[in-house]
Amino acid sequence: MSDKILVVDFGGQYTQLIARRVREVGVYSEILPFDAPTEKIAALAPKGIILSGGPESTVETGSPQIADALLAAKKPVLGICYGMQALAMKLGGGVEPSDHREYGYATVKLAGSDPLLKGLTKEGAELNVWMSHGDRVEKLPPGFAAIASSANSPLAAMADVKRKIYGLQFHPEVTHTENGLEIIRRFALEICGCEPSWTAKNIISEHLDKIRAQVGSDRVLLGLSGGVDSTVVAAMLHAAIGDQLVCVFVDTGLLRLDEGDQVMSIFTKHLGANVTRANAETEFLAALDGVADPEGKRKIIGRVFVEVFEREAAKIKNVRWLAQGTIYPDVIESAGAATGKAHLIKSHHNVGGLPAKMKLKLLEPLRDLFKDEVRRIGAELGLPPDLIGRHPFPGPGLGVRILGEVKKEYADLLRRADDVFISELRKQGLYDTVSQAFAVFLPVKSVGVLGDARKYDYVIALRAVETVDFMTARWARLPYEFLDHVSRRIINEVPGISRVTYDISGKPPATIEWE
Ligand code: XMP
Repeated sequence: MSDKILVVDFGGQYTQLIARRVREVGVYSEILPFDAPTEKIAALAPKGIILSGGPESTVETGSPQIADALLAAKKPVLGICYGMQALAMKLGGGVEPSDHREYGYATVKLAGSDPLLKGLTKEGAELNVWMSHGDRVEKLPPGFAAIASSANSPLAAMADVKRKIYGLQFHPEVTHTENGLEIIRRFALEICGCEPSWTAKNIISEHLDKIRAQVGSDRVLLGLSGGVDSTVVAAMLHAAIGDQLVCVFVDTGLLRLDEGDQVMSIFTKHLGANVTRANAETEFLAALDGVADPEGKRKIIGRVFVEVFEREAAKIKNVRWLAQGTIYPDVIESAGAATGKAHLIKSHHNVGGLPAKMKLKLLEPLRDLFKDEVRRIGAELGLPPDLIGRHPFPGPGLGVRILGEVKKEYADLLRRADDVFISELRKQGLYDTVSQAFAVFLPVKSVGVLGDARKYDYVIALRAVETVDFMTARWARLPYEFLDHVSRRIINEVPGISRVTYDISGKPPATIEWE
């Protein structure tokens, strides 16, 4: 089993990023809340510990503390921001409270003799770092020395090199910090002595062994959506257990142009997997008939999806497991939700209630992986890059991109317009510069002219956003020439559309999807 680093979560906004960065340098890392039970920490047996940032103040009573068990193991520790202040408090130093937050770029002067920061800048130069803190350490605990200082924080970093305990006031995990990844690498590999064995190849081989041991000769059922996660689950399970995997692909009729055929071709031709396609367009459209309310539509689509999936699954005999594409951020967020510490998660149409109802055991082979790892593994398993790099697509599909009532006529127009937009983005090398792009169908008519004739047809809105976490987003500044070209193509090539608009709303206040 690979070496591990434990990331202790004090509620900071960058906690997941810390764990991702550690994995980027090739070391497996897991996140546990600051008040995790001692047995859980012991079971993980980490070779080092990183304490995250957090929104609270260590000097306030009742603020989260470092558990004794974390330091008792005498493993190397790196405290970041709140983590550094908590270390100072715990080990006999002092913290100065502040109402004022230092946020943004800063430079720090390195003392230059410790294994963490030594030589990260050229002689005499300062290190560019990213700060985001209120309180700061004003008195070092016994045994510690300052290893960096800034104009605002004379103790911007501290170390007890002998005990291998470090504290940074700034955030090495964000890309704005110069050499941030190198700091993480030094801590994980050099100070903790971890082997960098967390690579796509090793992850796959570890997971294949685990899956085989878990399911033995049982059959496994998987619902395919065409999305990245379920596709990678399918590829991984197929590599592990071949024909014991049976997939059901529910074609809702609310997918993008030719998407159903593409999914089938990848799985049957490319992977040689066992896939049943349930063509349920008529059923979905009938259930949606006359319903205009967005939440109402979501619920119907979710319900019909489960009905169709169950019906197909019932035809497959001797299945013991249901596989799902749950990934690590889902696991962390639902764990956080259980302790009341995390925010709302989007409700997807999933097959959540099914395993118990169908008396199946749940198999979640990606539950310890981040999205970027899922993509790398997909590539390593031979899935086409276009597929792995796809923008997210909502579970309810075009059902939430056709405003109001869903009709086949609207879905067909939208599919064609969306295809023009997406294929032009790809052709002009813009697809990967945006995080998500799609067309929306507006069921209002607008006047236009084509040649000598007057048109009175529907409107399409184009939406493209840039975002890191999809919680906030900025509308993409696509070139005017590009938008002009796409608009002309849609109006000329999609009869029934007379006007194209571009959505210039940010999130917040607008959401990414229109419904
Ligand atoms: P919003 O529209 O809330 O979307 O800004 C944020 C991200 O979530 C996706 N999304 C959904 N995904 N089921 C899903 O599986 C849904 O009902 C759903 N609604 C929004 C959206 O595409 C974006 O990536």
